[in-house]
Amino acid sequence: MTTDQLLPSHDLQPQRQAELLQPCVLASINLALTLKQLHWNLRGSKFQSVHEFLDLVIEHARGTADELAERIVTIGVAARGQPPAVAALTMPRVPDDFVTDTQAVELASDLLGKAIEIMRDAQETLGDIDAISEDLVISAIKTFEKQLWMLRSHLL
Ligand SMILES: [Fe+2]
Repeated sequence: MTTDQLLPSHDLQPQRQAELLQPCVLASINLALTLKQLHWNLRGSKFQSVHEFLDLVIEHARGTADELAERIVTIGVAARGQPPAVAALTMPRVPDDFVTDTQAVELASDLLGKAIEIMRDAQETLGDIDAISEDLVISAIKTFEKQLWMLRSHLL
């Protein structure tokens, strides 16, 4: 079934939309996996609050990946989320080792900032194609940006 058959009065450009949504899916999966690395290995006096807060970001990242992947499929394109596709996306790396609580917050902020940058780039172009997909991305960015503020607040 094509999208034209699904919504004959709208040109949803499903392939173009999928090209824009796909990096958002992969960035969200990367975020969920990489923040777990920090969640496990951070050490310091802020351990408890950072450890628990990272899980909130991870939960949102997992939900975002699922929601945006299902949007891609809804408009008629197969979604991609396997490890090689995730690894091919350029995102900040974190050490395979223990990190201090401050390092964990700084690294997590860099990761979150990069994911937001990828999603804002997609959102700007999606706005010209489909308000529904754009709205899903805006909603995800809104929470990620609030979480970035809360994460950075651990540094003071
Ligand atoms: Fe845990």
